Amino acid sequence: MKYTKLGNSELNVSRICMGCMGFGDPARGQHSWTIDEAHTRQIIRRGLELGVNFYDTAVGYQSGTSEQYLGRALRDFAKREDVVVATKFLPRTMEEIERGVSGQQHIENMINLSLKNLGMDYVDLYIYHMWDWNTPIGDILDGLNRVVKAGKARYIGISNCFAWQLAKANALARQEGYARFISVQGHYNLIFREEEREMAPYCVEEHIAMTPYSALASGRLSRKPGEAGTKRAAEDAYAKFKYDATAQQDGIIIDRVAELAEKHGVSMTEVSLAWLLTKVTAPIVGATKQHHIEGAVKAVELELTAAEVAYLEEPYVPHPLAGVMAQNKPESAKQKHVWTTGDQKV
Ligand SMILES: NC(=O)c1ccc[n+]([C@@H]2O[C@H](COP(=O)([O-])OP(=O)(O)OC[C@H]3O[C@@H](n4cnc5c(N)ncnc54)[C@H](OP(=O)(O)O)[C@@H]3O)[C@@H](O)[C@H]2O)c1
Repeated sequence: MKYTKLGNSELNVSRICMGCMGFGDPARGQHSWTIDEAHTRQIIRRGLELGVNFYDTAVGYQSGTSEQYLGRALRDFAKREDVVVATKFLPRTMEEIERGVSGQQHIENMINLSLKNLGMDYVDLYIYHMWDWNTPIGDILDGLNRVVKAGKARYIGISNCFAWQLAKANALARQEGYARFISVQGHYNLIFREEEREMAPYCVEEHIAMTPYSALASGRLSRKPGEAGTKRAAEDAYAKFKYDATAQQDGIIIDRVAELAEKHGVSMTEVSLAWLLTKVTAPIVGATKQHHIEGAVKAVELELTAAEVAYLEEPYVPHPLAGVMAQNKPESAKQKHVWTTGDQKV
């Protein structure tokens, strides 16, 4: 394994982050294909053996059971200070808004719930999971700053946002003396490269870490089209929604991944992740089987030539936004960002 600093932080992370969205009780959440605690523990144990020290979960994954399984496994198999744990909080619900729960109170409740689920007294990285159009960003930043000051999170990160939203939020945090976002978890892989237009150059400029999710396009970059046959491939409607519409065009790139994998005598997973590793700090890879994490870790050793990188990139055409990012927009033409509780312009 290789390690690197996470952006402007003191966190030393493995170049592969284990995505924990596939862990948790399948009866208690969005996904029917998640794995139980016994299998989760085997995968986390194997990841630790291979040097993976960076783990990504969320309070929203299977009603907190992903956090619970991860927390118990890390407690049994690792020392707390040897691992970097990231989790995410959800937007305020309409019910909270009606009850008058502020953005700050919401974040305090969310971190306390995550820490309880994880059985930990702090997380290393606390991530704003998706843009909350109904809560002033000033309140979110204040709430996050309080969490950092209280020692419940070492750093904060953001996910599913536009570069300009992040730039404006970090400018506001700087102005108010709050903790700033040190990492961004966007949707980025060989067949979905919209982050390259604005986010990637902005992150280089500000030394913000990119830790992209769905690094393998939820498995599509690990095998030839039609070869799936897995429970996830059959049941993951959310990934189908993200990728099915562009499958024909994406197939050209996937064929090139297969071609280079054959040439190097490695798996398609290794080629896909080796490409992403040339662009970002640490891709987040989902694992629901032991061989998934073993294959992902091998990618760290594969070096692609500049010509191979260009060959993989050449067929890409811009894609419409998909998944959570497609929902990052006002609910009506009249709705504007609310930056501070007083709605002052920044
Ligand atoms: N912030 C957000 O909004 C957000 C959204 C999505 C995900 N995430 C994070 O990102 C993580 C990864 O996302 P993801 O699961 O959608 O995407 P992924 O990493 O692109 O895909 C994981 C899938 O790829 C296949 N795979 C993985 N390693 C393999 C290997 N070595 N050989 C063959 N196949 C392999 C498996 O598919 P099969 O099971 O079909 O074999 C696995 O389920 C999540 O766990 C979560 O932590 C965050």
